[in-house]
Amino acid sequence: MLSYRHAFHAGNYADVLKHLVQIEILQHLCKKNKPFDYIDTHAGAGVYGLKSKHAQQTGEYKDGFAKLSRADYPELEDYFNCVKHFNSGDELVYYPGSPMIGEQFLRRKDGSWLFELHPADLEKLQANFTGKRHVRIAQSDGFSGLLTLLPPASKRGLILIDPPYEVKKDYDTVVKTLIAAHKRFATGTYALWYPVVERERIDILEKKLRNSGIRNIQLFELGRESDSIEHGMTAAGMIVINPPWTLKQKLQKLLPKLADTLGIDSGGNYRCETLTGE
Ligand SMILES: C[S@@+](CC[C@H](N)C(=O)[O-])C[C@H]1O[C@@H](n2cnc3c(N)ncnc32)[C@H](O)[C@@H]1O
Repeated sequence: MLSYRHAFHAGNYADVLKHLVQIEILQHLCKKNKPFDYIDTHAGAGVYGLKSKHAQQTGEYKDGFAKLSRADYPELEDYFNCVKHFNSGDELVYYPGSPMIGEQFLRRKDGSWLFELHPADLEKLQANFTGKRHVRIAQSDGFSGLLTLLPPASKRGLILIDPPYEVKKDYDTVVKTLIAAHKRFATGTYALWYPVVERERIDILEKKLRNSGIRNIQLFELGRESDSIEHGMTAAGMIVINPPWTLKQKLQKLLPKLADTLGIDSGGNYRCETLTGE
């Protein structure tokens, strides 16, 4: 089943959390001169037009990135700069996806590995990366593709796992993939995105990770309203294995602010928790 298209959701509050965590990790990796690899198991199209039919139909970015201002969020300067790079004027017309955000931070010596299955998004992704030799794009399953790349030659890296969860099996596959990947490359930083549609699924996912034997796992979640079966996705989160030490500090301050700005009728909420210690 490949019906999910990220163009409907680009720049929404879930992207905000995902991409600011991604940026914080990439910045940390860039602090050392040594090369690293960026692996994006579910890459999407790379850049999204917010004036497109898809984005306008849902308008999700209007309740997400478009609600944030530089004045209120000076701590997100690098995130704003990243999005600005794709927009010539003050108007928000394009929003970058995770592969393009990665590209903003990667240096010549770093490698980028992108997996995307949907033919239409793959075509856009390839077009967006034309001429970039250090970027390897594959139209194959990101879960199994990831395992073939580990450990990377650089022995340093960020692995972003961002499936659409349209197949419920994904809730189980992400855990199995993380465990298998961590066995091959225990020092990598892994960032897993998850939606809260049915809270029980996330409770189970967390429990499996807590019992996985993997150390140093943190969870960051941003909700627009309380859990509810009727309302579709009410919150979204990132689970990070081997996070930079700065991440929790930053998100502890940022998440309450974001919950205020992005929550519906003061229903915004957040979690910032350690699932397993170092
Ligand atoms: C949530 S979107 C990715 C968004 C992107 N990571 C970003 O932040 O801009 C998920 C993408 O995964 C693709 N996809 C679904 N199943 C996949 C699989 N097994 N392997 C690789 N890509 C897959 C979908 O076509 C979709 O474009």
